[in-house]
Amino acid sequence: MCGIAGYIGKNQASDFLLDALKRLEYRGYDSAGMAVLSEDNALNCIKSVGRINSLEEKIKKTQLNGCLGISHTRWATHGYPTKNNAHPHSDCAGDIFVVHNGIIENYKILKERLIKSGHKFKSDTDTEVIAHLIESHFKDNLEQALLSALKHIEGAYALAVISKNDPGKIVVAKKSSPLVICIGENENFIASDSSAVVGYTNKVIYLNDNELGIITENSHKIISIARNNEIHRNHCNVDLDISEIQKNGHEYFMLKEIFESPEVMKNSTRGRIIPEEGLVKLGGLEVLDQNKLRNINRIILIACGTASFAAMVGEYMLEEYAGIPVEVELGSEFRYRKPIINSKTAVIAVSQSGETADTLASLEEARRKGALTLGIVNVVGSTISRETEAGIYNHVGPEIAVASTKAFISQMTVLALLTVYFGRIKEMSLIMGKRITEEIDKMPCLIEKVLKNDKQIKGLAKKYSKYKNFLFLGRKYNYPIAEEGALKLKEVAYYVHAEGYSSGEMKHGPIAMINENFPSVFIVPNDSVYEKNWSNMEEIKARNGKIIAIATEGDENIKNIADDVIYIPKTLEMLTPILSAVPLHLFSAYMGMELGCDIDKPRNLAKSVTVE
Ligand code: G6P
Repeated sequence: MCGIAGYIGKNQASDFLLDALKRLEYRGYDSAGMAVLSEDNALNCIKSVGRINSLEEKIKKTQLNGCLGISHTRWATHGYPTKNNAHPHSDCAGDIFVVHNGIIENYKILKERLIKSGHKFKSDTDTEVIAHLIESHFKDNLEQALLSALKHIEGAYALAVISKNDPGKIVVAKKSSPLVICIGENENFIASDSSAVVGYTNKVIYLNDNELGIITENSHKIISIARNNEIHRNHCNVDLDISEIQKNGHEYFMLKEIFESPEVMKNSTRGRIIPEEGLVKLGGLEVLDQNKLRNINRIILIACGTASFAAMVGEYMLEEYAGIPVEVELGSEFRYRKPIINSKTAVIAVSQSGETADTLASLEEARRKGALTLGIVNVVGSTISRETEAGIYNHVGPEIAVASTKAFISQMTVLALLTVYFGRIKEMSLIMGKRITEEIDKMPCLIEKVLKNDKQIKGLAKKYSKYKNFLFLGRKYNYPIAEEGALKLKEVAYYVHAEGYSSGEMKHGPIAMINENFPSVFIVPNDSVYEKNWSNMEEIKARNGKIIAIATEGDENIKNIADDVIYIPKTLEMLTPILSAVPLHLFSAYMGMELGCDIDKPRNLAKSVTVE
């Protein structure tokens, strides 16, 4: 987590640096800071606790002039979110400033050593050791000092460093945290991701692990940290549109992104389905040896958070329709287990950001063990997309709200596509392939219909906002959606407690909590487990529990048991989660708004979790 940015050119650095922080704020938002080198070679630094706006206010009053600078938005790992712990951090003399995303694992030993040799520390952070280490190695060249310092550092980092004693450059380094160098006209930029530079330039160079970069106003250079030799790499053109990173009339990004769900379905499926032939075409997988793909006899889906619930839906789809055994693993667990993997196992990372540290580390573990590694990733050029052998992009544009919504819809969609893809190269019939692809084709219209319930859902959020606890229940394909509904409510309406459970398991514990003050949200479409769900609703009713049901249009009977009903259109059972997730996303967003929460940036969370 944490976002970093840097600017060198002819313009006031603080303009870009602030702009970049606002776009990177999703990566962390408990404090922020900026250091700028003035024309008379003075390094000035401003920090602030809280959101970027409070840093902006301070900068307006101070006039942080200069055409070279770095900035940072923080998600605390070591040390409270105080002004002292906010980045940039400096050496003893205040001549060197550093911003850092990642964790320095051996910082305690380094700090003790540096203190013994006379260095004075001002913060509780791991990052500050980097500034002092550079200071201790500095002769007259910043990149040489950083190269020497990095030899002592263990952990993860995306770093940007400036010094008044070697002005005219920003030196950066990367290991396990994302970093891009962006090329402008007589100006250059660095950032945690390319969304920060949209509107400034579209020429981006992705730095790889163990690389160091030096950027000046008119040049950039990449060096291998291990070999100390220059690496030549061409830039890529990133085609992001400024409107994609704006709210476009919506009060919150989260609402904008939920309302983009129909478009998301179109973008994730465009050019990929051939309903007449019941086929799915996935260009990203064409680079692979097709025999190797055909021989895959086991799939492990690795993900964290919301993406893991999409993966669970994918598990049910792939097992039912492609006939391949599938397991879903949380990245944070998989990486420390002893998984059984061979060359016929495909390990697929599902990740919106493509940067989640646990997912990435699991993928590396799987590759070491000989699995075919694939990715379902949204952010183009992200680490997971580059580290996997092949993959499928979600193509849903930037997701800015911290809680994932549109990417979740797309992840389930891509997993449905993958089901047909694998199914058809295995035993799925033409008829079944046609049935699923035709239905996928209709989904954008069906989601539009669900979104028309917006006002009703807003009303329900108002009605239920007085409750402090919720249980979300579903079975089979909609069990993961119960988990997702509860997670989303906890994330964005963060004064509410919610649990997601399988309806069938409810009687083994959660039912003990049910009374008239503990409502349940049941996802109960007309599917193969409808009757089973109905029995569970009876059990809730018998304990005076209130029920909000997500049910299929035309199901009038449901009104006899549920206190409130939100209807979704009829579709194939395997695709119902794509429809049932949308009202739950809206419900959480409106509940959060009712309770006065900042639904885009929930308390204590960050979007891109690049630490363990
Ligand atoms: C964070 C975000 C979640 C997201 C999860 C996994 O916790 O707040 O919304 O689902 O990370 O992120 P990924 O980028 O790997 O999908």
